[in-house]
Amino acid sequence: MNKEREQFGSRLGFILAAAGSAVGIGNLVGFPVNAAKNGGGAFLVVYALFVIALCLPVMIAELAMGRNTQKGPVGAFNQLAKRSATWSIAGFLGMLTPFMIAVFYTVISVWILGYLFMAATGDLAFLATDGTFGSYISSKHIFAAMFAVVAIIYLILKVGVQDGIEKLSKILMPALFFMLIGLVVFVLTLDNAAAGIEFYLIPDFSKITASVINGALSQAFFSLSLGMGILVTYGSYLTRRTNIVGSAKMIALADTTVAFIAGLMVMPAIFSFNPDVDPSELSSSSVGLIFVLLPKIFLALQTTIGFVGASAIATLFFLLVFFAAITSLVSIIEVPVAYLMDEKQQSRQKALSVIGVVGGTLMVVVSLSMGMVGFLSEMVSYGSGVKSLFDIIVDIFYDTILPLNGLLLCLFVSYRWKKQSFSEELSIGNEGFEGSFMQKYLNLSLGTFIPVILLLIFLNTVADKFFAYSLFGF
Ligand code: PFF
Repeated sequence: MNKEREQFGSRLGFILAAAGSAVGIGNLVGFPVNAAKNGGGAFLVVYALFVIALCLPVMIAELAMGRNTQKGPVGAFNQLAKRSATWSIAGFLGMLTPFMIAVFYTVISVWILGYLFMAATGDLAFLATDGTFGSYISSKHIFAAMFAVVAIIYLILKVGVQDGIEKLSKILMPALFFMLIGLVVFVLTLDNAAAGIEFYLIPDFSKITASVINGALSQAFFSLSLGMGILVTYGSYLTRRTNIVGSAKMIALADTTVAFIAGLMVMPAIFSFNPDVDPSELSSSSVGLIFVLLPKIFLALQTTIGFVGASAIATLFFLLVFFAAITSLVSIIEVPVAYLMDEKQQSRQKALSVIGVVGGTLMVVVSLSMGMVGFLSEMVSYGSGVKSLFDIIVDIFYDTILPLNGLLLCLFVSYRWKKQSFSEELSIGNEGFEGSFMQKYLNLSLGTFIPVILLLIFLNTVADKFFAYSLFGF
């Protein structure tokens, strides 16, 4: 093992950092929106099944590869496959994908910071006005918020794994949890909150279609930060004492719990705003919910708690989402940073500067594609219509390549690294692993049905996104 490699200071610190990565905009907004549109309680059941049966094994595989090699995705694939050119593509994708996802995720986080600032300074009525979102994201104001977000991430990552990422997560994750609980308690006091809870918790299994199943799996995969090289990289900072299987269960549980609780915040809020709402008609985008519908809901609260109270609730909400976004962003940007440090022997400082300049430039260009520059805003037309640069990056890296990365990783662990070596790695720090049900399940699932399901999702996404054609008739 490389003696100089940074490490997490404690198991709790690692679990909070990984949970910090997993808990993001996807949990707080993506999950409730998906649940609302896709059968409420029934979606929860399907989602939970996917987390346990499909995502947990992939998470364990990613962590094991990282800890075994003490390297991020590029180094891990190279080392375990003895520099096979084919597998090095998988490693490269495991580094490029998080970089590109980081670009659009940072852009969304920049908007969140802007909304946080405006809510806190008394502009809630403006935020709730139709057209505000479109004009804000295509205005020059976003560059001030972008500078702030980039500076925050830079300062955290500069101090490294233990003093940066781990310390941040130890503060922000508990804070996030208490803020979330506070908001849920408040929302439950609103009129009609019960209707939202009922819709959220009572399953309507007739709504379960192939499309719901596809959506639940994609949501779970994204929410647990899989396929992004993050957990391989975090695994590489683990000591040999850590029980990987046990830690992965805690991370998955924390992530799913926060997503579930976020539903208890969002659903009653939507129903209290409009008791006759038909959740299946809600906009399918998380962005639409955060920046368009929720500000209207917050403003409507002024009739009961006054404008200052409504602004305070809105501020708390945007702060919560911002905290979640920052802990996710540091994890994803650490992947290319660790790549430059490990594979190109750069110092942390230099690697951060390189990623800052390249990523920062891309971020500016992507932001310009939200309406400021015509050519970037309407770049090409495919699938469902005309796409901006922002849409193209989301379609390619988030929707399409993420499941592909998961698929490649499962095949790699099962057939190239081999189940035996994988099991040996998992037995380190976990004496009961050998011969356990978990061992049998991992050995069976990672080489068979998990990659098959991920392949189907990948093929269907390609057909749907790029050719507007559904393989399964939905
Ligand atoms: N698990 C994160 C979420 O649910 O929002 C996914 C993620 C996205 C992690 C982007 C990191 C990141 F930068």
